[in-house]
Amino acid sequence: MRQPMVAGNWKMNATRWEAENLVRAIKEAEPDPSAVEILVCPPFTAIDAVARVLKGSPIRYGAQNLFWEKNGAYTGEISGEMLRDLGCRYVILGHSERRQIFGESDQDVARKYAAAKRSGLIPVLCVGETEEQRSQGITEQVVSAQLQAILQQTDAATFHGTVIAYEPVWAIGTGLTATPDQAQEVHAFLRAELHAFDSGVGASTRILYGGSVKAENAAEIFSRPDIDGGLIGGASLKAEEFLRICAAA
Ligand code: G3P
Repeated sequence: MRQPMVAGNWKMNATRWEAENLVRAIKEAEPDPSAVEILVCPPFTAIDAVARVLKGSPIRYGAQNLFWEKNGAYTGEISGEMLRDLGCRYVILGHSERRQIFGESDQDVARKYAAAKRSGLIPVLCVGETEEQRSQGITEQVVSAQLQAILQQTDAATFHGTVIAYEPVWAIGTGLTATPDQAQEVHAFLRAELHAFDSGVGASTRILYGGSVKAENAAEIFSRPDIDGGLIGGASLKAEEFLRICAAA
């Protein structure tokens, strides 16, 4: 049985003061940690502030990206080791905004994945197709290539615990949520790919849906058999709505 997860990707939002207030409101609601694992991923600059508020709390925190080297002359970059030093448990990798805006390739994401594992972080690996790719009927081909770029370089024991997030690019920030059936179809495909890699991985890996999840649509999306929760953008910046989504998982 997979424990549901709801993760908030705050993206480039929240000063330290805003982050403290947001995460404190979530913590003080005392959501049941046995029902759903809750993860918040603030911007780098607010991680320490969030960590202080969450001290002793079952709510997890993580980062939205990392660079694959341990340290060195990489101006502006942050390593996995630095994120572990901040107490991060998870790191989002391969988000479509990293791929689309910053040109991250499947190979870049694979290097970042290896670095996350090296530094003791749990990856939340994002995959998803663009509207054009969906209209061309190559959704499964696209998400398979994104996933296989990781599976080809690892083994079941190493991969264990990794979280997958299926985020159709055309549903991110658009209000155009994938229908529960559309999401389930791709989640089932991804789970079949994971089963083919290793049956234990296929059964245990949580696959989250991301893309315009709101309090109103979360329960129906999360009800599908291969959807284990959500990766939430805009709605994660409002404590009350984020908590309603967590309660729906
Ligand atoms: O990583 C989650 C994010 O891409 C989804 O964004 O605003 O559509 O919930 P949003």
